[in-house]
Formats: sequence, structure tokens, C-alpha cells
Amino acid sequence: AVITLRQLLDHAAEYSYGMPAFNVNNMEQVLAIMNAARKTDAPVILQASRGARKYAGDIMIKHMILAVSEMYPEIPVCMHQDHGNSPSTCASAVMSGFTSVMMDGSLEADAKTPASYDYNVDVTAKVVEMSHMVGVSVEGELGCLGSLETGQGDKEDGHGFEGTLDHSQLLTDPDQAADFVARTKVDALAVAIGTSHGAYKFTRKPTGDILAMNVVKAIHARLPNTHLVMHGSSSVPQDLQDIINKFGGEMPQTYGVPLEEIEEGIKYGVRKINIDTDNRMAITGAIRQIFAEKPGEFDPRSYLKPAMAAMEKVCIDRFERFGAAGKA
Ligand code: G3H
Ligand code: 13P
Ligand code: ZN
Repeated sequence: AVITLRQLLDHAAEYSYGMPAFNVNNMEQVLAIMNAARKTDAPVILQASRGARKYAGDIMIKHMILAVSEMYPEIPVCMHQDHGNSPSTCASAVMSGFTSVMMDGSLEADAKTPASYDYNVDVTAKVVEMSHMVGVSVEGELGCLGSLETGQGDKEDGHGFEGTLDHSQLLTDPDQAADFVARTKVDALAVAIGTSHGAYKFTRKPTGDILAMNVVKAIHARLPNTHLVMHGSSSVPQDLQDIINKFGGEMPQTYGVPLEEIEEGIKYGVRKINIDTDNRMAITGAIRQIFAEKPGEFDPRSYLKPAMAAMEKVCIDRFERFGAAGKA
């Protein structure tokens, strides 16, 4: 059954677990997640970025949502717009069957310029008013993603602000968060705590000075009933880096968000954990391995099946570690 983000996260809060939200662009990623959910009896959040909608096409996405509700009727699925940059992006997602949208007003609509607080409140409140009218949930974001090590805004893949930000922009202010939630009425709030998108988040295993879990705790103390969202929350596991590099890849050593930090966050109101990079790495490692070991293969199924299996393994692990297994 297709359900909203609000329904899912209210349940997650009631039973003290966290929901991984996996990015999808194609059938293989959707099937890997759904098979992992079936094996662990977990509910699902699928999310599509603007880039994913462009890649697959809105009609294809709409029919993938219908397909999963038919193929996996026992699993509650939320379809979420990741990083909507404007009310029109959010409205068109709703028309394609999404049950939840993110209005990311932390940046201007060009997604490259940090936004003013007033802009963020206005645009987010507008999307909430429109979405709630048709029973769709809304996630907002306060503060900019980016590195506390370098002060650089979210760097990888051209996502977000690429220049230097000061500390106050890189960390969500708890008092402002309380004002933001009261004024916008968002269903979930994405926070800035030093994470960024992509594989290159930290140059070492993060400690409290560069991954500010204390800020999550402070926001939760101020807003105990608000569902918090962690973006840029791939763990960038060493074993996946090793497989990619063993089979011809060139990824410099890097560090992601440790799973134990996410587990700590779940004790303090984190209910949605966004993961894309780990699944991209699982897929890429598996395909590289087949290409290296069986250079004669040219049937895409010969490498896409192992790719799906590798991604399914990551998803099963996250459902279990975050406590979502058994909650479908
Ligand atoms: O927002 C970041 C997600 O990883 C989606 O990435 O915009 O390349 O699809 P994308
Ligand atoms: P990662 O790049 O850490 O997987 O983050 C994904 C994300 O935040 C999508 O919105
Ligand atoms: Zn994100």
C-alpha cells in the first residue's frame, strides 16, 4: 500500500526506530529495495531527486510506484520527492503520485545560493499549505549541508552551495528550528550537522567537532515531537571502497557517517535517514567485479543481477540497524 511520510514517521516515532530513505532512478534499484524490505518485513521510503525524475521520466516513475504497490502489497511504501527546489517541482511530483515532498528552501531555487531565512519560511509554508490540502506530507530543511572540516558547502556532484559557508550556516540553530516548524508546519525537518552528499564527506572517521550529533540532541530537546531527517547519511563502507578499487576503480580513501552515530541519532528524534551513495557504490563494485572477472559477458542481466544483490544487502543491513525490520 502507498502511504504518506507522516504516517510512516509517526509510526517510527511511536516504536522508536529510524527509516532509511533510499534514492531510486531505475527498476533495478526499486526491486533491490523492495526485496530487502520483503525479506526483513520493513516499510519503505523510496525517493526520487529531480535528476532521477529527469532520468526515468515522470510517467515511468508513476508506474514504478503502481508496480511496487501491486507486486509488494504487504509493504507500506512512501514515494518522496528528494530536494524539491520550488513549489512547482513539488506540485508536479504530487501529480505523478508522490505521497511526500521535500521543499528544500535552505538554498535558492537555483540550488546553488544559500537562501535567506524569510525565503525558506515563505516557500516551505506555501508548499505545506498546498500539499496538506491533498494529503501529501512535506519535509523542510533548515541550515546548509556542507563540511565542518573545510567550511565548504555541499560539494559533490554539483549539489548545493559550492562556496565557503560559516559555521552558523552549516549547523541548524535549535531556536530557529522551533520557529521554523511552528511557522511552516512541516511534517519532518532536515537538519544541517556537518554531513554532505556523495562519497567525500570526511577525511577521517568523524568525531563530534565535524559531525555534530550534539546539535541533533539540542534540536530534539527543543522539538521533541518533530521528526528529524539526516541527509548525506551514507556510511561509505570500507569494504565497498575496497571492492571498487580492487576491480579498477579509483576512489581516494574517504569516510562517511558511522552507523553507530545514526543509531545514536535515532534515540534523539532522527526518523528519516537519506542514503544514495552506499547503494551507488554497491552497484558499481558488483558491476566492476563482473566486468573484471568475466570480460566475455555482455548480457546486462549477468551484471545487473549481482548489482541488485549487492544493493539489497546494503538495504537489509540498514533496515536492521535502524530498527525498521519487522515494522511493515
Ligand atoms: O540529493 C542527492 C541524492 O544523492 C540524489 O542525487 O541528484 O544525482 O540524483 P542526484
Ligand atoms: P548520501 O550521498 O550520503 O547517500 O546522501 C543522500 C541524500 O541525502 C539524498 O537526499
Ligand atoms: Zn539530501
